[in-house]
Amino acid sequence: MTDEELDALVAAMGQAAKVRLLTGASGWRTHAEPAAGLRALVTSDGPVGVRGESWDERETSLVLPSPTALAAAWDEELAAELGGLLAAEARHKGVDVLLAPTLNLHRTPLGGRHFECYSEDPLLTARIGAAVIRGVQAGGVAATAKHFVANDAETDRLTVDVRVGERALREVYLAPFEAAVEAGVWVVMSAYNRVNGATMSASPLLAEPLKGEWGFDGVVVSDWGAVRTTVETARAAQDLAMPGPGGVWGDALLTAVRTGAVAQSAVDDKVRRLLRLADRVGALGSPAPVWRPVVPEAGRRALLRRAAAAGTVLVRNAGQVLPLDPRGLRTVAVIGPRAAGPRIQGGGSAEVFPASVVSPLEGIRAALGSAVRVLHAPGVPPERRPAPLTRDVSRDPETGEPGFLVSLLDAQGAVLHSEHRLSGRIVEPARVDGAATVEIRTLLRPGTTGEWTLAVGGFGPVSLTAGGRTVVEGVFARDTDDPTHIHVSPPYRSGRIALAAGAETEIVARRGLAPDTGIATILAAAPPPAARAGALADAVAAARAADAVLVVVGTTEETESEGSDRVSLALPDGQDELVRAVAGARPDTVVLVNSGGPVTLPWRDEVAAVLIGWFPGQEAGHAVADILFGRTEPGGRLPTTWPVRQDDVPVLGTTPRDGALRYTEGLHTGYRAWLRGRVEPAYWFGHGLGYTSWEYERLDVPEAVSGDGSFEVRVRVRNTGDREGREVVQLYLAREASAVERPVRWFAGHAAVRARPGGTAEAIVRVSGRALRHWSVTEGCWRVEPGAFTVYAGRSAGDLPLGAEVTVPVAAPMASALRRPGSPGPAAAARPGQARIRASDHSPRTDGRGSDRLRGGTGRLSGA
Ligand code: BGC
Repeated sequence: MTDEELDALVAAMGQAAKVRLLTGASGWRTHAEPAAGLRALVTSDGPVGVRGESWDERETSLVLPSPTALAAAWDEELAAELGGLLAAEARHKGVDVLLAPTLNLHRTPLGGRHFECYSEDPLLTARIGAAVIRGVQAGGVAATAKHFVANDAETDRLTVDVRVGERALREVYLAPFEAAVEAGVWVVMSAYNRVNGATMSASPLLAEPLKGEWGFDGVVVSDWGAVRTTVETARAAQDLAMPGPGGVWGDALLTAVRTGAVAQSAVDDKVRRLLRLADRVGALGSPAPVWRPVVPEAGRRALLRRAAAAGTVLVRNAGQVLPLDPRGLRTVAVIGPRAAGPRIQGGGSAEVFPASVVSPLEGIRAALGSAVRVLHAPGVPPERRPAPLTRDVSRDPETGEPGFLVSLLDAQGAVLHSEHRLSGRIVEPARVDGAATVEIRTLLRPGTTGEWTLAVGGFGPVSLTAGGRTVVEGVFARDTDDPTHIHVSPPYRSGRIALAAGAETEIVARRGLAPDTGIATILAAAPPPAARAGALADAVAAARAADAVLVVVGTTEETESEGSDRVSLALPDGQDELVRAVAGARPDTVVLVNSGGPVTLPWRDEVAAVLIGWFPGQEAGHAVADILFGRTEPGGRLPTTWPVRQDDVPVLGTTPRDGALRYTEGLHTGYRAWLRGRVEPAYWFGHGLGYTSWEYERLDVPEAVSGDGSFEVRVRVRNTGDREGREVVQLYLAREASAVERPVRWFAGHAAVRARPGGTAEAIVRVSGRALRHWSVTEGCWRVEPGAFTVYAGRSAGDLPLGAEVTVPVAAPMASALRRPGSPGPAAAARPGQARIRASDHSPRTDGRGSDRLRGGTGRLSGA
């Protein structure tokens, strides 16, 4: 639809109808306006899969590798392909707007949603995010760049005021969003937090640079519940308040428009944007466009398997212990608490329900077949914290089927509705008029005798009985405003009771549906505490009896989830002790780490190999087997630096002081902070090994940049190993003597190449003009400092064998500036010989073939 047609639709709409459209109709839907030919738009989380409109474990979704894993593949094509898969899922579930990707940064490894963000580097985040957006939107589904901006930690996320300097904001935190707009994103989500005093749903940043300078023509949707004032947010460039109905817009906004407190033109602009979005996703006027699935049904699980392997990072491979030759194996030990129960995704609004999960144990068994014996030992005693009850130990008392009977009761306790459910965690019960209580009932078959911990999760009046005896009873007042705590993962209240192994006991959890207590009710349990020593001894014995040993360790639901930050980077539950005990018996031990973000690995030099598998999605186990037995290379490179010790991490804290979280490190984030502090991490940003080795032979850069300031770099690498392989060639820039503050060096682009044993490959990387520019705070524009920049090429931020110089001439056109709208910058009138720098020069291209004269450089410049 043209802008004129959209204007005509807006003009034909009454005031009340317009304002009504600007608040959600329900948790996930917008309002329809049939008179304008507009149907409701359906939104859904999130980055790892498409949950759909309901939060119900019976409605399954494909589960992709989490964003850290996706970024670790350093592969934009793969990211776009997975975006296409998300679009296919969204279309299948009737979803128009996918609430992803998350473009916040790994500012600190303690960030609770680290797993949901791509990288510590703004350019890598921008590239992967833009690729996902292109993939999603090519399928006719809107992507949502979130959370705009500086929502990089969870502590007090609804109120925290992030204080960040203008240069860091532009160059680091806004940069991925700018790239998203350039990739054509249709929706941007304003964050809960404040930035430099203004809450993001009312922030001036929504107008400038987002809608003005960058030209974003889509919809700014609020994070769920983030619109908390009427006039301030409506005057700002916030367009749509979610969820609904209710909230602070509605009638209050109508009054504000009538009294002139909010301009009519502001409302019209919001409505026009919403209609444009509806038109883009096929929800306006004509029926939805016929959409052809990008990924054929049959190939979907194969794609997830390939993606999980592509993102797995081999950070250590002493003595080339990997890959294992399956022909030489008779017995394999698969040890660790995550071997049979992997975490395939992080917690919070991103969670979806898989139809099936392949654990590492299952994947290895499937790959080796019956000729090889696979031993399994968890190595640590069962979890002591209550976890939602699962079907394997519970059955529905009415039907006898594995699972739970969930009922809605009226105020007198009469059953209004009952249904069979598959989990003890009921995030969203059926909606039934007159319901006063949710009840979860099951027959629990304890596997061990002793003191069980039984728990009920949820706010309001709760109770739990076991075999008719009361275990928990009370009213638990809501003590948070955070929607994730209220609706998705409310806290547990627990009690203890003795149960006998095999003796089925009826457990009944109830929660009263008091107003404002959220929707989730959870029935959880933990078995009696068991002795550590036995579990450890079993693991060591299994390791000794095997020809090859894999230990799978990882984080828990409690340590990596939305709504709170981590306090420790250590692996919980004595897993370090487990790895050490197994490695003590078997120095050829291979460890697979199953965490969304960095954990400390104090034993890393005592084991033969370490694989970082992240949260790999539902095909986890097949991907692990493919890597272990050499069917594929571990394709990943770290998107974030991993520390030796937690105390070494240069930017760590997430706790605001006096309501403010100060980004005092400025531009020096991630590996840049490590370089500046001269502390050696365990593994640098960019690090990752394949199954062959590479020599960096030659680096060619042009003598000087010209035109838009982008330039082409060629790097020749030789495969010096005995297998074909893929190398991710990375470029970094540095400026030795500079008039402006700079990171020690910064990532500027990459390209992946393949070569046969002994063969060479040339990586061609187009470095964007933006990579050389800095944001001038005094002038309010992008600037380039003339003179020599050093280009480094290599394998990680800390391993850069080659370097050469490229010069920005003093009178280069690119040394001019882009004026910030409203500010009288020097570029307001471009001087002779200078051209303005367009705002949209961000995305680097890797396909260009410049005609610049290339200059060779094989001299080695040492890494950090
Ligand atoms: C999260 C968003 C999410 C929204 C809807 C919020 O709590 O911060 O990322 O899209 O909920 O589930």
